[in-house]
Amino acid sequence: MKSILSGIQPTGDLHIGNYFGAVQNWVRLQQDYECRYCVVDYHSMTMPYKATQLRENTWKMVFYLLACGVKPENLFIQSQVPEHVELGWILNCVTSYGELQRMTQFKDKSDQLRESDGEAFVSVGLFDYPVLQAADILIYHADFVPVGKDQEQHLELSRNIAQRFNHQFGKEYFIHPQPLFTEIPKLLSTADPNRKMSKSLGEKHYINLFGEEDRIRKQVKSAVTDTGDTPAGEMSAGVKNLFEILRACGALDAHQSLTDDHNSGALKYSDLKEATANALVELITPFRDRLAELNADKRAVKQQIQESSVAIRKRAQQTIQEVRELTGLASIK
Ligand code: AMP
Ligand code: TRP
Repeated sequence: MKSILSGIQPTGDLHIGNYFGAVQNWVRLQQDYECRYCVVDYHSMTMPYKATQLRENTWKMVFYLLACGVKPENLFIQSQVPEHVELGWILNCVTSYGELQRMTQFKDKSDQLRESDGEAFVSVGLFDYPVLQAADILIYHADFVPVGKDQEQHLELSRNIAQRFNHQFGKEYFIHPQPLFTEIPKLLSTADPNRKMSKSLGEKHYINLFGEEDRIRKQVKSAVTDTGDTPAGEMSAGVKNLFEILRACGALDAHQSLTDDHNSGALKYSDLKEATANALVELITPFRDRLAELNADKRAVKQQIQESSVAIRKRAQQTIQEVRELTGLASIK
């Protein structure tokens, strides 16, 4: 069976861009692949954070993912498998400084730090982040990595690292992992459809999957539909974005009839927004119910995830043992 790995940062909220770009796929793929998904808390240390908040957000993300349908046995917390960091170190030594300098996420995040804080502190951890991500993937020999489009460059780097490692140590040891995208690999902000939906842009730029229903409806209602530069007869980026959300929610009848309205020039944006808000609320309702059930016995859920982290760690330990052998490190007795 082919294997899958993916990860998500515990940043507090799960937005519909994360869901439609990645997590929806995580849930579906569980039927046909050996899947491992992690909440990447080590990665969250690369930007300013508070220790107590990190722990709380890590668990919050675990609960959100389970509520969306990720199976507990497939879910773990990255830092409970410290072998990721050991492999990350080893992979650092087959990664060039120049290739990390080309990573656009590093450029974006370090610019963001400089903008938000005059005395910007940009850590080596932020620079090195993509190598740890490569380790997350390669340590399980994952064939596929379901992510949003913004991770394509990191995946390409993971393949280059795998190739260089294999070449240097004379063995086709690591697989070259391929990304898997959904139909919405890049969901746009409803407040500014020229930009990707993202937590880092601020609250109005992302729709929280577990937010208040009223707020979701308000955000969809106030979605920007006209940016003034769309040729007649074509859909603006904002309108296209709403249609994509509608389709991804599975509201195919509403999608079809509103597309017909658009084609005949009779589309009312208020109808499109109402249908989209309804579809989102319908999609989310069972997730919320499941979250409430999970919250009713938090301890049992945490215990389960700790157990799956222990089970998944065994696979990572096996890889590390083989890697230590291949790279000439002294063996641990
Ligand atoms: P992050 O919250 O940055 O850890 O992202 C978690 C996952 O969601 C990654 O696979 C991202 O590529 C994906 N993702 C984040 N924002 C979007 C978006 N606006 N559209 C589609 N996918 C996204
Ligand atoms: N870098 C990813 C993001 O910002 C998160 C991530 C960390 C990841 N490790 C991973 C994604 C491994 C896929 C596979 O969204």
